[in-house]
Amino acid sequence: MSSTLIDNIGALVTNDPALGPGPLGVIEDAGLIFADGAVVWAGPRSAIPQAAAGERFDAGGRAVIPGFVDSHAHLVFAGDRAAEFAARMAGRRYSAGGIAGTVAATRAATTAQLEANVARLVGEALRSGTTTIECKSGYGLTVEDERRGLEIAARHTSEVTFLGAHVVPAEFRDSPDQYVRLVCAEMLDACAPHARWIDVFCERGAFDAEQSAEVLRAGLARGLGARVHANQLAHGPGVQLAVEFGAASADHVSHCSDGDIAALAGSDTVATLLPAAEFSTRAPYPDARRLLDAGVTVALAADCNPGSSYTTNIPFCIALAVREMGMTPDEALWSATMGGARALRRSDIGRLSVGARADAVLLAAPSHLHLAYRPGVAIVDGVWQRGLRVC
Ligand code: NIG
Ligand code: FE
Repeated sequence: MSSTLIDNIGALVTNDPALGPGPLGVIEDAGLIFADGAVVWAGPRSAIPQAAAGERFDAGGRAVIPGFVDSHAHLVFAGDRAAEFAARMAGRRYSAGGIAGTVAATRAATTAQLEANVARLVGEALRSGTTTIECKSGYGLTVEDERRGLEIAARHTSEVTFLGAHVVPAEFRDSPDQYVRLVCAEMLDACAPHARWIDVFCERGAFDAEQSAEVLRAGLARGLGARVHANQLAHGPGVQLAVEFGAASADHVSHCSDGDIAALAGSDTVATLLPAAEFSTRAPYPDARRLLDAGVTVALAADCNPGSSYTTNIPFCIALAVREMGMTPDEALWSATMGGARALRRSDIGRLSVGARADAVLLAAPSHLHLAYRPGVAIVDGVWQRGLRVC
């Protein structure tokens, strides 16, 4: 049995309220033991079991937190849209239409090029503390290109999402319902074996309520779990639809009515907020405080994609959530770890208590508060994934 003791932890965030105060279950002056890829002990240094053998790592008083769970990413793409970003910063508005440029570049790319891009971004995310990342298709939009995207994604993560309903591709501009039928039939047949989730961009310029419902219904019938890009650019039916279909998550949720919030609060659907998208599209941030005060479970994710949010950096998203969305540093960290796990309906990640996957991040700081307090600095000193030191 391979085991590792991380000793001399200044503050250990476990996300297990039984182990320490608050939802973060923080243990001061702590130790953490991994064996065979899982957490086998977490507690105060004074109680570290004598028998703890194996490797010993001295954290030197620094903080250790659960690895981030980034539950929303679009990593299978080619090219970038830096010029579109610059145009936005000069006053142009973001619209769903920009996706078409990435679709053309992605279709033209080789599988090796797409694969290298996914590997690069997963590695980049890992180095900033993300130990689990979801990955969507959605820049292929043909049966073959969507299947190819999912096959690539599945080589890098088990959280794979079929997003054939990202936008209507140019060749179906005059017959969008025909495209929806393709997504729900042949495309789904080819893609479902490679995915765990189905997602739809329910938004003006993408898919309306009826089309989105058709896509979700077809995905659920094939055994996929539902997720929805909801209410990103304007108020619309996405959040209600997500709740109605028992989606694991409604994502973006930037424009919400009281009815939307009440529906989320009374459901198992997590609201996944993506503040880096508002940052990069210069749009108003979602009001996390309003959601949290109503009892909605909130996740934070990076939404890495070349159009609306070209970052994998969760500490950056935490800083934005704290500064711009009314979240406390504790809430933001919980949402980026346990919240992400809830949004993926996973109980083995997002926490550092016995039985959890040994995914942990060593911060270059004595406390997790520094994630938002020291924005933009290299705050991650080390990463363990399934008990192995990977960064
Ligand atoms: O989550 N909203 C839809 N999809 C992406 C953006 C895609 C793009 O602009 O390429 C998002 O923000
Ligand atoms: Fe997205």
